[in-house]
Amino acid sequence: MRFSDQFEARFAEMLTHYPTKRSVLVPTLLYAQDEVGFLSDEVIREIAERVSLTELEVRNVISYYSMLTTKPRGKFHVQVCTNIACLLRGGEEILDHCKQRLGVGNKQTTADGLFSLEEVECIGACSWAPAAQVNYDFHENLTSDEMDKVLDEYRRKGTQ
Ligand code: FES
Repeated sequence: MRFSDQFEARFAEMLTHYPTKRSVLVPTLLYAQDEVGFLSDEVIREIAERVSLTELEVRNVISYYSMLTTKPRGKFHVQVCTNIACLLRGGEEILDHCKQRLGVGNKQTTADGLFSLEEVECIGACSWAPAAQVNYDFHENLTSDEMDKVLDEYRRKGTQ
């Protein structure tokens, strides 16, 4: 399979930083996921070969990290934290609000493919709870109104 020139340049550069190929596995999976949208069987096969691991070893790593997925997600992956700090400051209400607003449940994707929603454990933004992460961006001190603004902004970006 073919990745972009940018992916190939990053991969080649990463290999120069570590003594073994397997050390670049996680960042390589992230870059591949960003490019393809998810870690398909074809991507897993290709990366396993590149870093001299078996497909099973690669799948084991993927299953450990919640940010890696073997299933397609929405263009914007909304992760709402409901761990203790967020729970105490309304995280569950934010999650329920997102479910209602997007019309999907946990780990589901909207029909237009724009959003997927996931309830997650602590994302390290406890001091600014309740918090959510959309792709690589954090959104903090959320209220239902603020969450609406966040979702509206991504919808606007996604439909431009
Ligand atoms: S508990 Fe939600 S970010 Fe830590």
